[in-house]
Amino acid sequence: MSRTVIRGGLVITAADEVETDVLIEGEKVVALLAPGSDAAEACQAGADRIIDAAGKYVIPGGVDAHTHMELPFGGTFASDTFESGTIAAAWGGTTTIVDFAVQSRGAALREGLDAWLAKAEGNCAVDYGFHMIVSEVTDGSLKEMDLLVDEGVTSFKLFMAYPGVFYSDDGQILRAMQRAAGNGGTIMMHAENGIAIDVLVEQALAAGRTAPRHHGEVRHVLLEAEATHRAVQLARVAGSPPLYVVHVSAGEAIAELAQARDAGLPVFGETCPQYLFLSIDNLAEPGFEGAKYVCSTPLRPREQQAALWRGLRTDDLQVVSTDHCPFCFTGQKELGRGDFSKIPNGLPGVENRMDLLHQAVVDGHISRRRWIDIACAAPARMFGLYGRKGTIAPGADADIVVYDPAARQTLSADTHHMNVDYSAYEGREITGRVETVLSRGQIILDQRRFTGRPGHGRFLPRGTCQYLS
Ligand code: URP
Ligand code: ZN
Ligand code: ZN
Ligand code: ZN
Repeated sequence: MSRTVIRGGLVITAADEVETDVLIEGEKVVALLAPGSDAAEACQAGADRIIDAAGKYVIPGGVDAHTHMELPFGGTFASDTFESGTIAAAWGGTTTIVDFAVQSRGAALREGLDAWLAKAEGNCAVDYGFHMIVSEVTDGSLKEMDLLVDEGVTSFKLFMAYPGVFYSDDGQILRAMQRAAGNGGTIMMHAENGIAIDVLVEQALAAGRTAPRHHGEVRHVLLEAEATHRAVQLARVAGSPPLYVVHVSAGEAIAELAQARDAGLPVFGETCPQYLFLSIDNLAEPGFEGAKYVCSTPLRPREQQAALWRGLRTDDLQVVSTDHCPFCFTGQKELGRGDFSKIPNGLPGVENRMDLLHQAVVDGHISRRRWIDIACAAPARMFGLYGRKGTIAPGADADIVVYDPAARQTLSADTHHMNVDYSAYEGREITGRVETVLSRGQIILDQRRFTGRPGHGRFLPRGTCQYLS
């Protein structure tokens, strides 16, 4: 079994910051060793490989719990494949993704899961799990939820938005929540009132308000807050399965989560870098440029950002995932010229999350340990991967990033590895950069040279939410 020592770095986890050497054997972390101790010296003498991390941070590989590689949406497909998207993830210091398998209407959950397992199999550069998008709540799909939990697909996304596509009504949502309350599954909720939004979309288009910025106006903040409130109440009535609200973008929605959490309910919230760093002003960029920033929930007025940062600090929001769902500007976002409702929804970002959140540390929004918590530990814990993923400790998978906190970089489509023709963060300067990445003990990025391979990544059967046990 090969032995690697990562020497001389500052090891940061959600719980701790300590200068320590990390001993890896095969795929696992086996020990943390005081630098200069007899044990550390002995391990180095017997190591096959020593990685010098002096002056660097040594952090757990990122866990991005919300990606959509190859997602069929709006008449096209998200432009990153499992191969290109997971290679980009590796470049950005993310060593685990949890993507979404999709149930097609009229089909079984099983068929959707098998289709997504087949897309990913042999193609991923980092480890991956799946959530299940439940597009149709039926007696059959409810029964299947139990089987999926047993197979390690322990979380189910439901949509209060997108009528006619993924939408479930309140009765269907209640039934799925009841099932999850019984089988240990987690309900992930896209909380926007899609029925009301569709009325506003129709009115906007009829009045000639067709530009990308109107996407942000019709998807009203209060329709996110209302749906969040409704999701919480439905979950309570259903027996309180863990409820994880995805891509939270509005302070008014966080207030609903905070109220539920203060009442002791197992309610959790995720936000994404785009809501922390971009705003509705981007949707109003001249020409058709705003289309690059169309996603749902939409980008909000800049003033909302303070509430998101506060929510991350106070733990009313636990996780930052990317909702990586890239569509090229040319040929994909352009499908919505003259009708914002036809712009495929989603932003690229899987490669940028760890860096943007490090910039938030530099800017004083969050602490270093909170960075690791929201990007690594909390998503692992939320989705039943913690211990194996999300931390650096004996027994954990050796998914480790050597991060240079002093390096400078400029984010750009010219240099990123995501298969998309623009960057939502073009020209943004970042302090900090991923230098070396290990996935289960293998170096997959070696001082910014990609040394991984598609097919290295393995499917991760997951446990249930670890916040409750
Ligand atoms: O705009 C987004 N978020 N696209 C991806 C699908 C979803 O709702 O997460
Ligand atoms: Zn969504
Ligand atoms: Zn999504
Ligand atoms: Zn701040």
